[in-house]
Amino acid sequence: MRILFIASEVAPFSKTGGLGDVAGALPAALAALGHDVKVVTPRYAEVKDPRLVPTGHSLQLRFPFGEEGGPILSVRIAERLEVLFLENERFFNRTGIYGDAFGEFGDNHRRFAYLSIGALQAAQRLQFIPDIVHLNDWQTGLAGVALQRGFQHTPLSRARCVMTIHNLAYQGQYSKDVMGELGLPWDLFTSHDGIEFYDTVNFLKAGLVFSDSITTVSPTYAKEIQTPELGCNLDGLLKRQQGRVVGILNGIDVHEWDPATDGLLPARYSVGDMAGKAACKRELLKRMGLPEGDAPVLGIVSRLAWQKGVDLLLDVLPTALQADLRFVAVGSGEGHYEHGLRELQARFPKQVGVQIGFDRALSHLVEAGADFFVMPSRYEPCGLNQMYSLRYGTVPIVRATGGLVDTVEGGLDGNGILFEAFHPAALLAAVRRGLALYADPQRLEAFRRRGMERDFSWAVSARRYESLFFSLRKE
Ligand code: ADP
Ligand code: GLC
Repeated sequence: MRILFIASEVAPFSKTGGLGDVAGALPAALAALGHDVKVVTPRYAEVKDPRLVPTGHSLQLRFPFGEEGGPILSVRIAERLEVLFLENERFFNRTGIYGDAFGEFGDNHRRFAYLSIGALQAAQRLQFIPDIVHLNDWQTGLAGVALQRGFQHTPLSRARCVMTIHNLAYQGQYSKDVMGELGLPWDLFTSHDGIEFYDTVNFLKAGLVFSDSITTVSPTYAKEIQTPELGCNLDGLLKRQQGRVVGILNGIDVHEWDPATDGLLPARYSVGDMAGKAACKRELLKRMGLPEGDAPVLGIVSRLAWQKGVDLLLDVLPTALQADLRFVAVGSGEGHYEHGLRELQARFPKQVGVQIGFDRALSHLVEAGADFFVMPSRYEPCGLNQMYSLRYGTVPIVRATGGLVDTVEGGLDGNGILFEAFHPAALLAAVRRGLALYADPQRLEAFRRRGMERDFSWAVSARRYESLFFSLRKE
């Protein structure tokens, strides 16, 4: 099949979270199965990879607010995989992916309309006629609309459209003025199952309504988003589409995340020889300005957003730190969480290390050097960090929600620790279970081994996408 994969971030070129990881790895896994895959993404200012070369093609799109265009660049990753970068001076040549220190960019609806429609035009220009157009999150939702309204008389109309929800809470909601601004047909706003949402325009809803199939990134989250608690006001719509909402668990890039070969670590290790993990722990403590020692280390690497439950952790840690343990955090995001973490560090300077910012090398070191990795998420569509932790022999302590349930196994013979209620007492009890496990080296080793031996590679999940795509393909 020919697959056009559209995403607003693609690792290693651009990344703010797991979407970037998935957009970097899933297309490669599909290409390895023998499909021709083109990934389309913006060329942000931060994308400086010397491998980018001009394709000789460029885009020209006419919007009511003006003409927009720019060259299409490309990097060939593998024989069957190419990443196409849309360059546009006004939209993408600035610092930040979705926003900057002053907040979200005010023209994101224009920027991502450009990505969505531009991706289809790019395919056209390169004469790549896809069987499947694969959309990811709200930034790409308008491509679903454009396939049926705009490209319906072109060869692209034979493509089937799949929308993957990585996070239902981010929907790209704008005032209805945007209809006219982007030149979207008004009947889409007034019809019942169109792109109108409580009198606003909703890009994610557009993608959901105009795609042939909807997937999300774990089986448990697929069920949760059809309930009022986690449905973000789209549960009704998703429920009506029930047969079409499929949960396919994300995989991880087992080459980038492999403790046996990881070049970002001071030492390497594997199930058979764990000595290197102790060296990673020593290095982590040093990097975080903490004294050496054998006390258990809890770590987090996270976007600091409401979703992640950092507030619960900040509630619980002053009590938990009465015990002999250390806590290290790497993250960036909402100011009040950054502030809360810094305060905690100031209060417990010998036990708490905090690094605010996005730091790839340090994220690997935390996965390797910590004894436990904490994810007290309010909700978690899939979560990749807990899988990285398992692979690095770092026991995850997670809330039983979304993809965390589908990857972390609790119980005496499990590979991690799960807690149910989003409540300080529940998290504290889970941390204490972790400390008890740490005090029992044999049991700890068994937990680590079970985690490290579990297969999280993309191969299995890519097959699931493949069979979904085959089932949709037009004759
Ligand atoms: P989400 O996509 O909701 O942020 P995931 O667990 O799916 O959560 O993926 C997060 C990804 O982003 C992981 O690869 C993680 O290592 C990375 N990450 C998050 N924050 C940082 C940070 N401050 N520095 C480096 N990597 C980070
Ligand atoms: C989102 C979710 C996260 C998921 C990632 C990749 O950012 O918050 O849980 O792992 O997308 O699908």
